[in-house]
Amino acid sequence: MKRAMKKIVCGGTIVSPGGRQEADILIEDGKISAIGSGLAAEAGEEVEKIDATGKLVLPGIIDAHTHYHLESRGTVTADSFFEGSRAAAFGGVTTVVDFADQEPGQSLQQASRERIDAMSEGIACDFALHQSVYTMHEGIPGELEKLKALGVTTVKIFTTYKREGYLIEESGLKRLFELCRDLKLMVTVHAEDDELIEELEAKHEGEALPPAMHPVLRPSESEYRAVKKIGELAHSAGMPIYIVHLSSARGYDAVRELKARGVKIMVETTPHYLLLTNDLLSGDEAQKYIMTPPLRRPEDNEALWRGVESGDIEIIATDHCSFTREQKLSSDSVISILPGIPGSEELLPLVHTEGVGKGRFGLEKMVSLLSEMPAKAFGLYPKKGAIAVGSDADLVIFDPGRESVLTDSGQHTAAGYTPYDGWKVKGMADTTILRGEVIVGNGTYYGKAGTGRFLNAGVPEIYRRS
Ligand code: URP
Ligand code: ZN
Ligand code: ZN
Repeated sequence: MKRAMKKIVCGGTIVSPGGRQEADILIEDGKISAIGSGLAAEAGEEVEKIDATGKLVLPGIIDAHTHYHLESRGTVTADSFFEGSRAAAFGGVTTVVDFADQEPGQSLQQASRERIDAMSEGIACDFALHQSVYTMHEGIPGELEKLKALGVTTVKIFTTYKREGYLIEESGLKRLFELCRDLKLMVTVHAEDDELIEELEAKHEGEALPPAMHPVLRPSESEYRAVKKIGELAHSAGMPIYIVHLSSARGYDAVRELKARGVKIMVETTPHYLLLTNDLLSGDEAQKYIMTPPLRRPEDNEALWRGVESGDIEIIATDHCSFTREQKLSSDSVISILPGIPGSEELLPLVHTEGVGKGRFGLEKMVSLLSEMPAKAFGLYPKKGAIAVGSDADLVIFDPGRESVLTDSGQHTAAGYTPYDGWKVKGMADTTILRGEVIVGNGTYYGKAGTGRFLNAGVPEIYRRS
């Protein structure tokens, strides 16, 4: 099929964090070149028209926390780079920020380079990276510089997962924060206090540890302690900090206490911590609902919604880390059940249904949570996260009235199940456009493996905040 160089998305209502506008969007060479009313009427036959009449037009959704094809714990997650990005595209996602692990002996820049190369071969949406840092050693300053030169401006640390080799020693953290501050890198943190978790594991040693024990071994108090400690350390180093997947009311207490003291902190939560509760851990196939931190109580869901409404939580991302049902059910013990669930495809419909649909916030804020803020947080704005002249033409034509039920077989993840099986949603991406190319339309996928581009990330926006 011959592709038109120019395209127009016409007749829709553009939603941006600043408001709504009925206007057409002209796309040239994958970028937005004009926005205005009547552009379609003025355009000649040679310009391809993509009809958005009666629909909303959103900037492409950015899932700021994914683990596609993660090799971990002696296995690999279910979704390949292609499968993860294809499922995501059905949910309107055009960019992900994925995670680069680090093999022993590898420098940070080698780890990122390898990940970029591997992802570039398979992925069908654009991507940036968070690079893990597991140890502090004398080579780190130079490695961080090289990482930045490569276009990776976020590092990821874990205050837990000692067994897996992810936990970073506290002694080196202040130095790491100072180095990242000087280079204007974002530090993202998986925050759970490992000492408390180890104490609780020791207390329950020798017992059966079924899924319902997960919140007992990883209580919200451990999130509170870790968020508080990390926030204070970062503050003492004059460094902003980003907390991933906040899961609990206690964790949110820590965020509020830090903010009250002037700590620069950005917070992300996920649909599962907003919507699912730990009663699922006593039900059928409870292993399918194991992720770290664990699911909490309805009060925690509500506290996190309040955090989103108040603006303390600025980003909703998924922590998509999918395993097949078989992988999940291969253990009964929370020590060894593979942690993580799929979610990229469900992100937009769930946040629209439960956030906008329940009157918690408007469409403009939804766009901020799912597109603009993730782009700003990770130095991708305004190339990504905006409908503006000069931005990449990453667009979602969104039908806010389309009702459907999420089902295991209806989702596109290779996991073969969704933790939201049976959830009713209202609002769905009709068409997903990546750099001007329709990658999903009328339920059909048109994307191609290997067409996703690595995004050279700039300075995270938090460094510009006063
Ligand atoms: O259980 C989870 N969340 N798995 C993915 C890795 C992580 O901790 O983010
Ligand atoms: Zn995590
Ligand atoms: Zn994660």
